[in-house]
Amino acid sequence: MNIAIVGATGNVGRKMLEVLEQKKLPIDQLYLVASAKSAGQKLIFNSKEYEVCNLETYDFSKAEITFFAAGGKISERYAEKAAKLSTIIDNSSFFRMDKAVPLIVPQVNPEAINDLKKNIIANPNCSTAQLVIVLKPLHDEFDIKRVVISTYQSVSGGGKAPMEELIEQTKLSLDNKKIKSKNFTKQIAFNAIPHIDVFVDDGYTKEELKMVNETKKILDKKIELTATCVRIPVLVSHAESLNIEFEKSFSLEKIRSLLNNAVGCEVYDKREDGGYITPLEAEGKNETYISRIREDKTKKNSINLWIVSDNLLRGAALNAVEIAELLIKKKNG
Ligand SMILES: NC(=O)c1ccc[n+]([C@@H]2O[C@H](COP(=O)([O-])OP(=O)(O)OC[C@H]3O[C@@H](n4cnc5c(N)ncnc54)[C@H](OP(=O)(O)O)[C@@H]3O)[C@@H](O)[C@H]2O)c1
Repeated sequence: MNIAIVGATGNVGRKMLEVLEQKKLPIDQLYLVASAKSAGQKLIFNSKEYEVCNLETYDFSKAEITFFAAGGKISERYAEKAAKLSTIIDNSSFFRMDKAVPLIVPQVNPEAINDLKKNIIANPNCSTAQLVIVLKPLHDEFDIKRVVISTYQSVSGGGKAPMEELIEQTKLSLDNKKIKSKNFTKQIAFNAIPHIDVFVDDGYTKEELKMVNETKKILDKKIELTATCVRIPVLVSHAESLNIEFEKSFSLEKIRSLLNNAVGCEVYDKREDGGYITPLEAEGKNETYISRIREDKTKKNSINLWIVSDNLLRGAALNAVEIAELLIKKKNG
């Protein structure tokens, strides 16, 4: 199997190389693709050096599977043409709501792989991926009616440039120097910004709509959701506070055991100082952690909980590679 990664030098691309190494996928040839400025740069995979090639001159027929992780504009420009020569797994938001493109989290809706019309599969938004992996086992058992989400999202969700800017702003702030934000609308160091992606007409942001619409497409269009997405000065991992209302009655004990047994989930909920998982602890881990599980005593059949996951892994690289594993399984019958 030959594999290509467009955007190999980015946050998600580099994480994908790590995941492909760990999972030991049967790769014959690997093609690493980025912009002209990175062409010729060397990246290491399985202790071997690979030279990055320029997207403008790359031949998409070289690989059976091509991951796109270079942003929506690049996917828009290249993916449909590339899909005539290679199966595309796209990390950008460009195709996610396209009816002819399956949007997949392998632990939630693997059967969507059988509905491949354009030879393109979309990977969800990072906040959506960790959300649906937690909602799925609860929805199967108790029928989710409504979810209220507040996110606490790390700067790596925006790419490598915002990560560098957070570090730079933190140093400038500690030195009492003037800060000018480039990748954020306000200072991010020692702050929280209730705004991710662009505003739409009704006051919500596109990130908030992505969470709502993608969850409906992956899990169940009947679930009502509302979200507030906030950027916080953390480098990696997104956290979410969830209020979930069920149609059916539940017990906290059953919720804990369902989540603990769900693939990709791990409950860590000790109801004591430090008895929960924070973004720093989730970094580099494949699991989505669930903590602070408690009954919402103000509403029937409702709970509150806290979830946290490495956005570059579950929300991007790991999920994309797991989609590739599904494809390989399907091809091998
Ligand atoms: N970060 C997350 O948590 C996350 C989660 C889910 C989905 N995604 C999506 O994944 C994609 C990549 O995100 P990221 O965080 O990895 O971004 P990033 O760190 O900024 O990396 C961007 C990558 O795209 C390449 N690129 C940019 N412009 C290009 C061009 N004109 N031609 C060829 N390559 C080009 C860059 O190559 P150079 O180094 O040569 O510039 C780099 O490899 C985005 O669509 C994002 O929405 C990200």
